[in-house]
Amino acid sequence: MTPEQITLVQQSFSKVEPISETAAVLFYDRLFEVAPSVRAMFPEDMTEQRKKLMGMLAAVVGGLSNLESILPAASALAQRHVAYGAKAEHYPVVGATLLWTLEKGLGEAWTPELAKAWTDAYAVLSGFMISEAYGAQSQAAE
Ligand code: HEM
Repeated sequence: MTPEQITLVQQSFSKVEPISETAAVLFYDRLFEVAPSVRAMFPEDMTEQRKKLMGMLAAVVGGLSNLESILPAASALAQRHVAYGAKAEHYPVVGATLLWTLEKGLGEAWTPELAKAWTDAYAVLSGFMISEAYGAQSQAAE
């Protein structure tokens, strides 16, 4: 990612943070609509989960310009996801849902440039998480 892309991602995320509860509702509603099979992996009550997701995204977005600072937490997150039943092939649908949510949440502020910056940011994070959790081989299969 270029420094300009990192700034774009960080500035746009700061616009989502005030509506993070709504954004998280949108995100999970959409995820369970496009990938109904993952619903059973999550708790019935999603209140805490929504907060955890947005908190983790804030930490990752904040750490983009200093990647080494977030890699240990991202690695641990990836390992916990193995226990949740997440598979490498789930990551693309989660990424697509994240982008869809940002597009809805940001409205006119969502530009092709911003879409590219978020696509790259998610690719960096999910690529790292997949290789930490399942090894480099599964990544090649993506
Ligand atoms: C970069 C992508 C992702 C991020 C940032 C993320 C973030 C989180 C966070 C912060 C939690 C809270 C629990 C914890 O910290 O361990 C969580 C839980 C969970 N995530 Fe993810 N996640 C991602 C991708 C995925 C994918 C691909 C799946 C696959 C379906 C998934 C399924 C789950 C499930 C099932 C839980 C646990 C619910 C529970 O039992 O409490 N996540 N995620």
